[in-house]
Amino acid sequence: MYKSVIIGVGGGRAHGHADAYQYVKRGRVVAVCDLRPKAMDDFADKYDVKARYTDYREMFEKEKPDLAQVSAPPNLRLEVLEAAESAGVPAVLVEKPLAIQGEDYLALRNFAARKPKVKIAINHQLQFHPCRQRLQKLVEDGAIGNIRFIEASSGMNLAYQGTHSLQAIGAFNPAAPSAVFGQVSGVKGLQPNRQEHYAPDQSLAAVEYDNGVQASLRCGENAPRVPRGGAIWQHKRIAVYGMSGYVHWTMWGWETFIDGAYESGEHEYPEEDVLGQAAMCEAMFDWLEDDSKIHPLNLERALVDFNVILALYASALNHKVIELPYQPEADLVPKLRQALAD
Ligand SMILES: NC(=O)c1ccc[n+]([C@@H]2O[C@H](COP(=O)([O-])OP(=O)(O)OC[C@H]3O[C@@H](n4cnc5c(N)ncnc54)[C@H](O)[C@@H]3O)[C@@H](O)[C@H]2O)c1
Repeated sequence: MYKSVIIGVGGGRAHGHADAYQYVKRGRVVAVCDLRPKAMDDFADKYDVKARYTDYREMFEKEKPDLAQVSAPPNLRLEVLEAAESAGVPAVLVEKPLAIQGEDYLALRNFAARKPKVKIAINHQLQFHPCRQRLQKLVEDGAIGNIRFIEASSGMNLAYQGTHSLQAIGAFNPAAPSAVFGQVSGVKGLQPNRQEHYAPDQSLAAVEYDNGVQASLRCGENAPRVPRGGAIWQHKRIAVYGMSGYVHWTMWGWETFIDGAYESGEHEYPEEDVLGQAAMCEAMFDWLEDDSKIHPLNLERALVDFNVILALYASALNHKVIELPYQPEADLVPKLRQALAD
């Protein structure tokens, strides 16, 4: 049985990590870590985890985990990955967003370029939702013919949910992005905040991929709403249009139009999510057992996607199309904050 640990269990998200272990067959949570002991105890009591730490380095040394799951804010990404590498932790699953802006993105890219031993994937569990898997397989098998256009969106901004939508585009169209042209507005999401998530309130990007596919990405207050409604986080969706039909996934349902036949259905997002999170963990164990079974949410791919977000910021700031890969300029978040201020 693989030993998993979770870092950052005092917030809401870590419950999604732990709940998944009712479906994870090859692993169990053996220890948790948070800076806030009371919040950590509440979490650990709920999931009956005995070993508790306020220092994840000590946890790595004492527990020797096979998999570390990180649900702490994005300003900690690099330090946790470096600590995992030097402690010999073989795998890390780190929450989105991967980075904040250009500086930490470049540091993470340099870390990846050093070819660390630790295997790293980003927690975009929607890739493994049963319904998304079914639609992704349909498209991969050619059910809608060659993809012509993809349209993805999320009700929350790029830092909170946009990376899920961008990852979804790559799941259906695993080509390299080649150019971005975008616009952003709204400064609320750029203010200093405890969660270290920074993005404009609204964004719209036209993304080109090197196989000729075009994608539109809308994240934030300007994103379309998903039928059945609900809280702002419930409005993620993606539609993929091909030569002979389309597929459309939302947090609460799906549609397909293939060779003239229309079908649709509903699903329960929480049920899909816990199964997706579990399958994503199992895929980490597959990768641990076999180097050739590279996790689809691996760090290299996430760096490519995050580069699109940085390029979108540069496009909006500089009013031009940005060719990819983009070498990020300094201080993108402060520059956006200044440019978008009323
Ligand atoms: N994949 C998803 O669907 C999904 C959904 C929600 C949130 N998230 C992501 O999960 C992450 C966590 O979200 P949240 O809402 O739980 O955040 P949060 O800020 O409420 O909780 C983060 C926890 O990390 C702890 N922490 C901070 N520094 C630490 C350190 N050095 N060592 C140990 N613990 C530390 C904090 O004390 C806090 O308890 C965010 O990146 C968020 O974007 C992902």
